[in-house]
Amino acid sequence: MAYFAWADDMVIDGGPIDADHRLLVDLVNELHTATSEGQGRAVVETILHRVIVSTQEHLRNEEQIMAQMGFPDLDNHKIGHKHFMDQLWDLEKKLQAGSITVASQLSSVLRDWLSLHIRRNDKELLRFQRRQAREQARKGSASSMAPSAQRAVGLGKPATSALPALPAGKPRS
Ligand SMILES: [Fe+2]
Ligand SMILES: [Fe+2]
Repeated sequence: MAYFAWADDMVIDGGPIDADHRLLVDLVNELHTATSEGQGRAVVETILHRVIVSTQEHLRNEEQIMAQMGFPDLDNHKIGHKHFMDQLWDLEKKLQAGSITVASQLSSVLRDWLSLHIRRNDKELLRFQRRQAREQARKGSASSMAPSAQRAVGLGKPATSALPALPAGKPRS
């Protein structure tokens, strides 16, 4: 069993966001193997650097996708991303300064943040998408209603037959 296992409840879009998250999960596992096997600091630093670059790229992509979709909580979400990037750079600095404690804590810090962020924060995007889909379906089913049903719920134009009949006058000469 992997140190950080991918699970169905981490699925967000079945597309680019999940692909990025899976890559980050793999990197955290790689980092865990390196630190638990006591591989040298240079190896750990290289993997951490790949984590940082991939995370930065993922967060940028995710924010772009969210913006395109009109995700309403984007500003708050971005603050969470920025906070995490600051933490990552701080960890990298500490690791470069030779802190052994940081090396042993790295994978658990990354796993916990990523797991929580995907399952709680990124999941908001999925909920938003589902709300939108329900809304679209509701609008769609309303427009396919019979005109009488549309009038009953206040939609659509009144049917022509409901208008008073025009008096049949003589055509003007
Ligand atoms: Fe996110
Ligand atoms: Fe994400």
